[in-house]
Amino acid sequence: MARLAVVSGGGTGIGRATAGMLAGEGYDVIIVGRRPEVLDDAVKWIGPQASAVVADCSDPDQVPAVVDAVGGREVDVLFNNAGAFISGDDATLADLKARWHAAFDSNVTSAVLMTEALRPRLRRPGARLILVSSIAAQRGGGGPYSAAKAALHGLMFDLAAQFGPDGITANVIAPGYVTDSEFFDGRMTEEGHRRRVDANLIKRPGEPSDIAEAVRWLAGPGGTYVTGQIINVNGGSVLGR
Ligand SMILES: NC(=O)c1ccc[n+]([C@@H]2O[C@H](COP(=O)([O-])OP(=O)(O)OC[C@H]3O[C@@H](n4cnc5c(N)ncnc54)[C@H](OP(=O)(O)O)[C@@H]3O)[C@@H](O)[C@H]2O)c1
Repeated sequence: MARLAVVSGGGTGIGRATAGMLAGEGYDVIIVGRRPEVLDDAVKWIGPQASAVVADCSDPDQVPAVVDAVGGREVDVLFNNAGAFISGDDATLADLKARWHAAFDSNVTSAVLMTEALRPRLRRPGARLILVSSIAAQRGGGGPYSAAKAALHGLMFDLAAQFGPDGITANVIAPGYVTDSEFFDGRMTEEGHRRRVDANLIKRPGEPSDIAEAVRWLAGPGGTYVTGQIINVNGGSVLGR
């Protein structure tokens, strides 16, 4: 039977490209997101090895639908990629609190719930757990988004320690600026794009496939002895640390 990957946020951008890469590697892929029509399009794009679950990964009542879709199979790759930049005017302290909570739910709670729900189903040994943070975690600039992404680093360190004895690796990929996704929808300007491209050493934006290639390596034989790491895929926007 084919290996199985679960990709949260697999309907668009980085998640969709990574799901496509994994299907190309022979995995069956379950993509998860909140919009059925987006997931349907992605399943068609990825191909017959893909199936979709409509679920909010930050909702404890919805995540069990992903476990149901996995059924009795073992999960070889869990790509906890769902997340978003939560905007808001922070007009009151209550607004500010709501935005911080929403940012943590979107970027951290989603990864925590997916990992815990699928913990018994991860292949032992051999499963790969990969979380997606951001250069914003390392250099700030995103308020609660930066803080939430940084929290994933601490979460990952714990997961790597917990899962290591089972032969399961846990790592974070921290992308830089990536286009061809919905992440900046309505928030990007030509000047903002140019500034981000100029700020990296390669002088081009990242593409979803750049992140998918890092997942290919971590999920493949080359990733067997790599755990507890933050893998920067950012064109040199933030130098290694
Ligand atoms: N693009 C960049 O420059 C960049 C840089 C650094 C890090 N990242 C990170 O990379 C990841 C992927 O982003 P992207 O650039 O590919 O943007 P994207 O196109 O907006 O992808 C995010 C995906 O996650 C899904 N999603 C969001 N919240 C969810 C939830 N609670 N439950 C289930 N699905 C959820 C979205 O679909 P629904 O809305 O339909 O649920 C969407 O398909 C994110 O974690 C983002 O923070 C992106």
